[in-house]
Amino acid sequence: MKSLLLRLVVVFVLMPVSAVPALSAEEIKIPFHLAKGQLLYEKYCSSCHGLQLNGSDKGPPLIHPFYKPSHHNDKSVYRAALKGVKQHHWNFGDMPPVVGMTPGKMDRVVPYLRYYQRQKKLY
Ligand code: HEC
Repeated sequence: MKSLLLRLVVVFVLMPVSAVPALSAEEIKIPFHLAKGQLLYEKYCSSCHGLQLNGSDKGPPLIHPFYKPSHHNDKSVYRAALKGVKQHHWNFGDMPPVVGMTPGKMDRVVPYLRYYQRQKKLY
């Protein structure tokens, strides 16, 4: 009886921990050196471009062929984040400059973005 009670307690204590990963459900394994970029992407970009870069009702997917380096090079990614973009490919409206974003933070975000695109076989 006592051990059953103990087991129940253990289950209820551990349950929330095992339920956490769903939030940033990563189907793609992110190498350690890109973890900071992922964190910054999730903080500054994912609200519009999606946690899995698959877009949202506020912004397009960044794993779309438009955003291959051959079509939107790294410079244009920095420019989008730091200066914003006028609506031109989609109907989500303009992308405003991202508040709090810096070139230094983008140095982390861009390699993460490119890695993710390659894992998705975009290029
Ligand atoms: C408030 C919503 C929002 C946020 C936050 C946001 N974006 Fe965007 N982004 C958009 C929209 C909308 C477009 C599409 C503009 C179009 O082509 O019509 C876009 C387009 C882009 C483009 C394409 C630029 C171009 O020249 O066409 C890139 C690259 C991009 N976003 C990267 C980012 C990155 C990196 C972040 C985070 C640092 C970010 N975005 C944060 C809404 C957002």
